[in-house]
Amino acid sequence: MRIKVNGAEKIYFDYNATTPTDPRVAKVMMEYFTENFGNPSSIHSIGKRAREAVENARLEVMKLMHARESDGKLIFTSGATEANNIILKGLAMKAWKEEKNHLIISSIEHSCIMNSAKWLEKQGFKVTYLRVDKYGIVDLEQLENSITKKTFLVSIMHANNEIGTIEPIREASKICHDNNVLFHTDAAQSFGKIKVDVNELGVDFLTVSAHKMYGPKGIGALWIREGISIEPLIHGGGHEYGIRSGTENVPGIIGFGYACKLRMKEMHEEEKRLTLFRDHIIKTVTETIPESYLNGHPVKRLPNNVNIRFNFIEGEALVLLLDEMYGIQVSSGSACASHKPEPSHVLMAIGLRPEEAVGSIRISMGKWTTEEDVEYLLEVLPKAVKRLRDISPFKGKWEV
Ligand SMILES: Cc1ncc(COP(=O)(O)O)c(C=O)c1O
Repeated sequence: MRIKVNGAEKIYFDYNATTPTDPRVAKVMMEYFTENFGNPSSIHSIGKRAREAVENARLEVMKLMHARESDGKLIFTSGATEANNIILKGLAMKAWKEEKNHLIISSIEHSCIMNSAKWLEKQGFKVTYLRVDKYGIVDLEQLENSITKKTFLVSIMHANNEIGTIEPIREASKICHDNNVLFHTDAAQSFGKIKVDVNELGVDFLTVSAHKMYGPKGIGALWIREGISIEPLIHGGGHEYGIRSGTENVPGIIGFGYACKLRMKEMHEEEKRLTLFRDHIIKTVTETIPESYLNGHPVKRLPNNVNIRFNFIEGEALVLLLDEMYGIQVSSGSACASHKPEPSHVLMAIGLRPEEAVGSIRISMGKWTTEEDVEYLLEVLPKAVKRLRDISPFKGKWEV
């Protein structure tokens, strides 16, 4: 996808950070800012029209997660960060009363789960951080052995935002249910890219976000299985089943619903197309650029994600060079963590040394990525890596 930024043409390879809103989605949203501006809680006809649209959108989002209305409730939130905060802290508040104080998460969760867990630790909760193997796959034996009578929740992400690894969620949720523990998955990266089915995965709670799948920013959702209650964190007029009060973001919700409807039809073709691009990039780069290695699992990974480390250079320098010299937008680590000076906790968890972790970049593709874009990337990447290696202070001092 070529985009003009200050007059210069840029090629976007950062779809795991965010996607453009599909123009068809943006178009559908427009009338909910102006003509259909009603408050869904108003009982007059303009309010009723907004309510109807919100409820239809809710059904579209639930359809994409293969959830029937009888399976549970969908709570609209401002995004995955809020949904993840609600589930960890909302359940912790409830658990406290039941004298449960133990949470289990994986060691490669997104910062919104990580930092919520760390905050809970400060409040006196105990947290187990599950190991992952060299591909980023969570250790299920450790999961089984870590569960105690005090465990109130296990949260393991469906797909990792940095290295794209897809976790064995069905197996993890089964272990939890066999031990009477609730299970949550953060599906912000997988939803709309691969099949997400709450019943097949066997989850009690699922987090999703619109801006990772061609919907607008600032809207996401938390799905909660029927019969399970949590404590709300935001109190007010009782919106969203009393779990997330505040007037609904109607245009955002409509956009999310429509984006889900489009994904339902278009996702599978895109999955096939991007998997071919992904595997072509991985093969070409690792075979032709010396000292370059794939991070994450070769097959159990998101169709649109490539994460590669290049010894002797810094990923951030490569990101900037690719942008400024070649107009290519990639990322070093996740967008939400890339302002941090430390190496990514995900890359450290899969066993990389700090100097290997900082040499990694994430290339992520989407709907508007073309074969021409991929070939251009493959043409310029070796040149950019060589340029940085030629001036690298690490070269020759590296213990391989
Ligand atoms: C796995 C994962 N969880 C949560 C989030 C946060 O999503 P949002 O921007 O909707 O708050 C992201 C976004 O990068 C993510 O990749």
